[in-house]
Amino acid sequence: MKNFRYFNPVCIYFGKGVLSRLGKEVSKLGKKALFVYGMGSIKRTGLYDRVVEQLKEAGVEFVEHGGVKPNPVLSHTREGVEKAKKENVDVILAVGGGSVIDEAKAIAAGAKADCDVWDFFEFKAIVKDALPIVTVLTISGTGSEMNAGLVITNEEKKAKFGFRAEPLYPKVSFLDPTLTFTVPPDQTAYGAVDAFTHVSEVYCNCDVNHDLPKGIMESIMKTIVKWAPVAVKEPENYEARAELMWASSLALCGITWCGVGDLTLPAHMIEHSLSALYDVAHGAGLAIVTPGWMKYMREARKEQLEAFAKGVFGVEGIDEGIESFERWLKELNCPTRLSDIGVKSSDIPEIAENAYQLSVAWGMSDFYTVEVIKEILNLCA
Ligand code: NZQ
Ligand code: ZN
Repeated sequence: MKNFRYFNPVCIYFGKGVLSRLGKEVSKLGKKALFVYGMGSIKRTGLYDRVVEQLKEAGVEFVEHGGVKPNPVLSHTREGVEKAKKENVDVILAVGGGSVIDEAKAIAAGAKADCDVWDFFEFKAIVKDALPIVTVLTISGTGSEMNAGLVITNEEKKAKFGFRAEPLYPKVSFLDPTLTFTVPPDQTAYGAVDAFTHVSEVYCNCDVNHDLPKGIMESIMKTIVKWAPVAVKEPENYEARAELMWASSLALCGITWCGVGDLTLPAHMIEHSLSALYDVAHGAGLAIVTPGWMKYMREARKEQLEAFAKGVFGVEGIDEGIESFERWLKELNCPTRLSDIGVKSSDIPEIAENAYQLSVAWGMSDFYTVEVIKEILNLCA
């Protein structure tokens, strides 16, 4: 195995009822919180009231920053940074999914900086410090609750960029699977696909000859393959929601690539342009791009794709592996072609140009040129 550094300082409270510790944990980090949430699901489910009760009981004052949209945008993030600075908050409390947690991370960084928050995304500035972050996860998928990454869309530049910075690891994350019972079937599926691809992208780009990393990755992927269809059909199946929640957190917490390589996300790089240009859900975009990427890399990643077929779907052969993957995506009712989301073949050049910006920013442009990205997208049409 290769040498590696593994660092993950997030304290996780997992299971039914863990929310009863929320107020206490937030109060350890500050007296005044910025309470960040999305477009209203937490009000409909009653979670908002439970959070407010916890904060009040613990004597934590709070200012609200609701209205984070799925695929969070820079303008709303900047408003959050201003609010955090003006109100002098000590801690950021994010209650929601990856979008809410990512925007909360950007606000946590921006509140401690003199530069514009977007400078971090273009690597013009580095996050040296951030307000502490606490998260309450309401949808499984991104792994943002247990990692230091974040993705935001700059609406003016039509660019969806992401980066990682260690000060942005949440201090504490609350993972109660029952909070995901209300996630609708489509979002449940997209989250599962997102978590699956966080692992499959690493697996298909790394050295698959080491038992422990290979086993960890296959186990996470097989868990998701098994339980996602159950959660879609039976939203209140605790075991399914719990397995998916923990699998998603582990999928992008850094443990999977220890000893075998680095985090490599080419399908993500291309998908972010689908989200930026068409506002498609991240997991839905991945269901379209990832099989196409696998087809394009059939020869270059022969060993990995053969192992993927056998280790995850129990079949022999690359084509059989990709077909099994696509069958599973269809079982989850995910789109698997660009045409399924109304994107035409004639749109491909614009998407490729857009994705190339991120290819450059992520240092992948030696291989992922505009031409290569176009060829991959043609396999997704
Ligand atoms: O906004 P609300 O009203 O809360 O509704 C959300 C939203 O419509 C809804 N939802 C969430 N929890 C719910 C619920 N509805 C009912 N009951 C609940 N318990 O679900 C919808 C999707 O939420 P969102 O947070 O957008 O989903 P997700 O967690 O998939 O996050 C997607 C974002 O995370 C980024 C993606 O690019 C995308 O912008 N990612 C973040 C990563 C990271 N930080 O490490 C890595 C990923 O690769 C990904 O890029
Ligand atoms: Zn993802």
